[in-house]
Amino acid sequence: ERAMLTRRTVLGTGLAAGLAAPFAGIVAGHAATSGPARTIRIRPAPADVRLVPEPYGLTPTWCFNGAVPGPELRLLPGEPVRIEVENGLAEATTVHWHGLRVPNAMDGVPHLTQPPIEPGERFVYEFAAPDAGTYWYHPHMRSHEQVGRGLAGPLIVEEPSPPRVDRELVWMLDDWRLTQAARITDDFGSPRDLSHNGRVGNTVTINGRVPDAVPVRPGERLRLRLINGANARIFALDFGDQRPLVIALDGQPVTPHEPPDGLVTLGPAMRADLILDIAGTAGTRSAVIDRFYRGSDYRLVDLALDGEPLRAGPPDWPIALPSNGLPEPDVKTATRHDVVFNGGMMGGMVMQQMGAGGGTMPEPPAMRDMMMAGRMWFINGVAATGHLMEPVMTLERGRSHVIAMTNATAWHHPIHLHGHSFRVLSRNGEPTRHREWQDTVLMAPRERVEIAFVADNPGDWMFHCHILEHQAAGMMGVIRVA
Ligand code: C2O
Ligand code: CU
Repeated sequence: ERAMLTRRTVLGTGLAAGLAAPFAGIVAGHAATSGPARTIRIRPAPADVRLVPEPYGLTPTWCFNGAVPGPELRLLPGEPVRIEVENGLAEATTVHWHGLRVPNAMDGVPHLTQPPIEPGERFVYEFAAPDAGTYWYHPHMRSHEQVGRGLAGPLIVEEPSPPRVDRELVWMLDDWRLTQAARITDDFGSPRDLSHNGRVGNTVTINGRVPDAVPVRPGERLRLRLINGANARIFALDFGDQRPLVIALDGQPVTPHEPPDGLVTLGPAMRADLILDIAGTAGTRSAVIDRFYRGSDYRLVDLALDGEPLRAGPPDWPIALPSNGLPEPDVKTATRHDVVFNGGMMGGMVMQQMGAGGGTMPEPPAMRDMMMAGRMWFINGVAATGHLMEPVMTLERGRSHVIAMTNATAWHHPIHLHGHSFRVLSRNGEPTRHREWQDTVLMAPRERVEIAFVADNPGDWMFHCHILEHQAAGMMGVIRVA
């Protein structure tokens, strides 16, 4: 079981600050926000892990420190850390700190921000996470296979004074394509996955296990941190009898609200923090169901209510999180940019034509050649396949920018920008209700989404679909801030 040490329990048991974590278990935060950097070690390597309960066997995976997910890293805002990565894989890798606004050289993108970490080599990441929130880390090298085989872990930046709750749970969701013998299928990067909705699997895990019922106590207040670590699976979670309130998206605080249509929708890489006041009586169960894939609802887990009610009604403790103080984009004076996403299968044909504002399409090669070359998806007419990439756009540093994005495909895409969080201004011309900050925004087929942010972090930043098969098949580019 994954016991969770909090910063508070570590301090309570008198463990010293500066604790270096061993190559296993949990890395707990400490209270210092200045002074010498704490060292954390993570080692990606193959390991056999129990994802599925007996009588199934162990699953050979690639993972961090021998566990799926990797160790839960807990930091404080501004706390300097040194993260030593030793590559125990048979192939090169890197680690990306998804959603953290770190300096470009620490962003973990091979060939763009650092050389790949070759087998047996080490790389040291040094940064201080600026913003409290729920994040995660994963390789950025052949991600569709490296992440798909288990390389991912949660990264929590704690608020210095978090809102009061009875219990905090982190649920890292993942989705696997397993054989009857609980082995990961080897069909990574199949043409079908590349050109359709990615490698959607057949087995969902929470924190690396097909979950048993989760015991909860009537009346207790939970903070649930959800992380979608899947390659391609989109979750639309229905909490049934429970009434979650969303208090953060992609780590950034949002006005507390009930999820739209009662569903907590998370594309790959997206996170949500929920407040859950457990309603119902002891002895009953409350199911959490993924309703994203119509006609194939997936019963993710049951909450098993047990024990005397903790209190009569929900406590009146405040739940709004303090703002991280991100720079506010000035939409009126912002520079505007257009991005069009094309490609993918539709009616058996790879969509090649460009939408408005998308520039000129290079002479389209025959569909078969294109698929053989793995080019299925385009950003403004370009399908990235190598690692030498001309920027899709260059943003003037320090200025506000609006990017108007059009999804001209028949598929969903969670679009991720590195190095920044952005406000989601509108969808199909309608202003969003909460102008939420995100680092990954899920775009529905044919949807138009406008985002805005201050380009304050200089460097070349990846801009890509987080369905990792789409990324592998061309749906990525570089946004330069200079
Ligand atoms: Cu979660 Cu470019 O990554
Ligand atoms: Cu995509």
